[in-house]
Amino acid sequence: MKTFAIFGDPVAHSVSPILHNLAIKGLGINASYSRIAIPEGNELKNIFNRYNLDGVNVTVPHKETAYKLCDEIKGIAKDIQAVNTIVKLKNKLVGFNTDAAGFYQSVEQFKTDKVLILGAGGTARAIAYILRLKNKDVTILNRSETKLNSFEQNGFKTFSWKNFKMQKYDTVINTTSAGMKDNSYPLDYKILEELLSNAKYAVDVIYNIETPFLKLAKKYVEIKNGKDMLLYQAVLAFNLFFNNRYDNEKIKEYMEQGFNL
Ligand SMILES: NC(=O)c1ccc[n+]([C@@H]2O[C@H](COP(=O)([O-])OP(=O)(O)OC[C@H]3O[C@@H](n4cnc5c(N)ncnc54)[C@H](OP(=O)(O)O)[C@@H]3O)[C@@H](O)[C@H]2O)c1
Repeated sequence: MKTFAIFGDPVAHSVSPILHNLAIKGLGINASYSRIAIPEGNELKNIFNRYNLDGVNVTVPHKETAYKLCDEIKGIAKDIQAVNTIVKLKNKLVGFNTDAAGFYQSVEQFKTDKVLILGAGGTARAIAYILRLKNKDVTILNRSETKLNSFEQNGFKTFSWKNFKMQKYDTVINTTSAGMKDNSYPLDYKILEELLSNAKYAVDVIYNIETPFLKLAKKYVEIKNGKDMLLYQAVLAFNLFFNNRYDNEKIKEYMEQGFNL
């Protein structure tokens, strides 16, 4: 039997075990997927080995530590420097990032060229790199300056709240946690309203509530929350766990049921 888990702190709220176990059951695989809270990121590798796991997903706050601890990194995770999926292959821990492709699949239908990303954390990095790979013009706008340095060094256009100059963007993406536990906007209300009134699409990576950002955005543009990103990153991770043996559409069909529970 193969065993998988999600690592993070906290992990009690994570829907990953529900999604993965639905696909495991639906496809009739002999496997299980659990959640393991890891307060100390540096323990990640020891815990992986102690539980004799075959693969894990990694969530907040350990994606960057996971990147550092893996024996090998594949694909776009090398640029993003954050790992959300680890698979044990030939006794090595191999790290991937499926947030990036998962995000892209969730917005593929949007006809967009010029994108503004609000926030400069790990999720912003995943989204920025995949959008640039797809030839989009990407700008990052963040509250403070420190996290912008690595974007700047890697050739992205960046602004902090202090030096932002208004321009027209056809997509505005919120990757901050503003509005998740409070009623705040990810940016000054007036600036946000001007950006949205000139845009075509708005995306929020938060999936479980309609944030103040999306409530405002839907007055002006087509909107999307983070549910599909969450679903597609899970589908892609699942297939990495099983060496791409299963049909993505079939996995998605089973996992989608998790959102109706
Ligand atoms: N749907 C999905 O599948 C999916 C996948 C991954 C993550 N997520 C969600 O993505 C969000 C961000 O995760 P992360 O790992 O990138 O976080 P992170 O690394 O902590 O980065 C958070 C960023 O948001 C900014 N920020 C935080 N609170 C803010 C506020 N009230 N106003 C303005 N800016 C604020 C921070 O700015 P400073 O630099 O100024 O502090 C920072 O740049 C979380 O809500 C997470 O649940 C969703």
